[in-house]
Amino acid sequence: MKRIAVLTSGGDAPGMNAAARAVVRKGIYEGLEVYGIDYGFLGLVNGDIHKLDLGSVGDLLHRGGTFLYSARYPEFATEEGQLKGIEQLKKFGIEGLVVIGGDGSYHGAEALTKRGFPTVGIPGTIDNDISGTDFTIGFDTALNTVLDALDKIRDTATSHERTFIIEVMGRDAGDIALWSGLAGGAEAIIVPEHNFKMEDVVDRLNKGLARGKKHSIIVVAEGVISGNEFATQLAEFGDYHARVTVLGHVQRGGSPTAFDRVLASRLGARAVDLLIENRGGLAVGIKNNKIVENDITEVLKEKHVIDKEMFDLATILSI
Ligand code: F6P
Repeated sequence: MKRIAVLTSGGDAPGMNAAARAVVRKGIYEGLEVYGIDYGFLGLVNGDIHKLDLGSVGDLLHRGGTFLYSARYPEFATEEGQLKGIEQLKKFGIEGLVVIGGDGSYHGAEALTKRGFPTVGIPGTIDNDISGTDFTIGFDTALNTVLDALDKIRDTATSHERTFIIEVMGRDAGDIALWSGLAGGAEAIIVPEHNFKMEDVVDRLNKGLARGKKHSIIVVAEGVISGNEFATQLAEFGDYHARVTVLGHVQRGGSPTAFDRVLASRLGARAVDLLIENRGGLAVGIKNNKIVENDITEVLKEKHVIDKEMFDLATILSI
């Protein structure tokens, strides 16, 4: 393989730049030519493809977002889109592709490999919802953004003896809620993977108030219920002086943490090694601090699950 390309797709995540940088620099180090594709699969179909050199990825390591831009492009699920994409790649003499993104992007990567074009996936999403890897790029940064907000909210919550409901992202997954809730000492953590009863939440709030707690924090994953709807339901049980904060897209931005930069660098380099070996249809990941690769179809089949032990621990520690 002489020429490879890299794209970022779906919701951006802090550390995507670090991953693309690793692909470019490791690729060039190994004697490859590396091309960047702007706007994900949309740019691929449109031929938005340009050559990258060592300097193209300079001064990027610490930046959030993605210098290759991103797009959600469901049309790539069609045969027409995929064939057009492969045609564009061939036009530029590109023989292998690295896709940095989440679940939806992995479907595109899988489809290209099935059509004979070697493609490797790198998990880039704040949601941490990809199986076959302990962590996705961007999760740690988003988690720390949430935690910073949570700590600040705790200050004002205590001053006014309020209950704060904090809605966090994660789509259908509860990792951002669980990890931030545990790290931030939330009284209740509401995640899609675990049914909740408002009676239980109210019981916890009442017990806390009875022992003199000055504030309560409830972290709600967007995949279960909106923060506002949660507050409406809670109000049926009494006045808990509730306020709602929806953190939204602030969770997607910012300079990646050291953890995300290191993870992204390691995953990017491994993806290049796999393409050099002409091995497509794989998704790289990290398991027990070792970089691994898995069949991308298997990764897509397997559902990511939250750590049940961690969820139980968070419940125990916030009594
Ligand atoms: O997948 C990342 C994510 O931020 C999810 O947590 C969230 O549900 C979604 O993307 C938001 O998507 P958009 O930026 O397209 O509104």
